[in-house]
Amino acid sequence: MILARGLTKRYGHKTAVDRADFSVASGHVTGFLGPNGAGKSTTMRMILGLDRPTAGDVTVNGKHYRDLGAPLREVGALLEARAAQGGRTARNHLRCLARSNGIPDRRADEVLRLVGLEAVAGQQVRNFSLGMSQRLGIAGALLGDPPILMFDEPVNGLDPEGILWIRTLIRQLAAEGRTVFVSSHLMAEMALTADHLVVIGRGRILADTDMRDFIDTNATSHVLVRSPRLTDLVPLLSARGWRVDPEGRDAVRVHGTPPDAIGDLAADHGIRLHELAPVRPSLEEAFMRLTGDTVEYHAGTPGQPPIPPDVAAGGAA
Ligand SMILES: Nc1ncnc2c1ncn2[C@@H]1O[C@H](COP(=O)(O)OP(=O)(O)OP(=O)(O)O)[C@@H](O)[C@H]1O
Ligand SMILES: [Mg+2]
Repeated sequence: MILARGLTKRYGHKTAVDRADFSVASGHVTGFLGPNGAGKSTTMRMILGLDRPTAGDVTVNGKHYRDLGAPLREVGALLEARAAQGGRTARNHLRCLARSNGIPDRRADEVLRLVGLEAVAGQQVRNFSLGMSQRLGIAGALLGDPPILMFDEPVNGLDPEGILWIRTLIRQLAAEGRTVFVSSHLMAEMALTADHLVVIGRGRILADTDMRDFIDTNATSHVLVRSPRLTDLVPLLSARGWRVDPEGRDAVRVHGTPPDAIGDLAADHGIRLHELAPVRPSLEEAFMRLTGDTVEYHAGTPGQPPIPPDVAAGGAA
């Protein structure tokens, strides 16, 4: 269990994390979701005692990280994939980590096997690709077989096979009853990995909720309707008070009603439908709706000048 209360970090005038309250429970994957610069890594560094909070507090299993006797046995973390010393071999890097926490040497080879690096155990870490470094970082997190695991953007730099591998691993670790806290700004990946969400924007916790509830609360489902007679159908739909948005040339999105009511209405008027599909909202839609005005670094639309940050932030920055 990770528990943050009023957790705050300021760098000069910049408030990176702002009075954050949240908890991460065991037995499921908690996703830590937020745009670039939202404060995810800063929060994780404070959990690991690498950054001291300006105010507030965060504990792991009721203790501050710095008070843990053998921290790797209690909390495993992947923050910076490139944190290993380049001159060491993968095996030596892990053995050094293990010894500092009273973990036997043989565990290094066990975790190397677990992450698929046994063939390169004797190679210098400086020659590792980003994906290999990421796997080595995960091996380090698993060294002490800890009940709490934290991964900051673990799929960065991984190929599709690697992404599937880490997603499966993360879910398995949670299924074993561990506390798993994983950050990402990749919505589709998060939707497949996490059961619970802590959402952060501009340092503030915007939601701490079940994934399903989060999507249902922050986005609405709709029905995709394709028909060769849209011009006849749309006025009938609108007359019922259902919101209709165009979707390409021959389809519309209908909000506020289930598909059966639309199908019945069309049949009553002899209008053929070529598609009638309920569409569940994605995590991305829910996230964009919730965090739209908390994104700090907006890109410009291609072909148009970029939006200045103060304008993008509604003049509030
Ligand atoms: N050491 C530091 N000194 C000054 N400002 C910092 C420092 N570390 C982080 N910040 C600022 O704090 C804010 C939060 O940064 P953080 O790295 O926690 O964001 P993040 O959510 O991890 O973003 P990303 O998705 O890009 O990794 C940013 O505005 C960042 O510039
Ligand atoms: Mg980060």
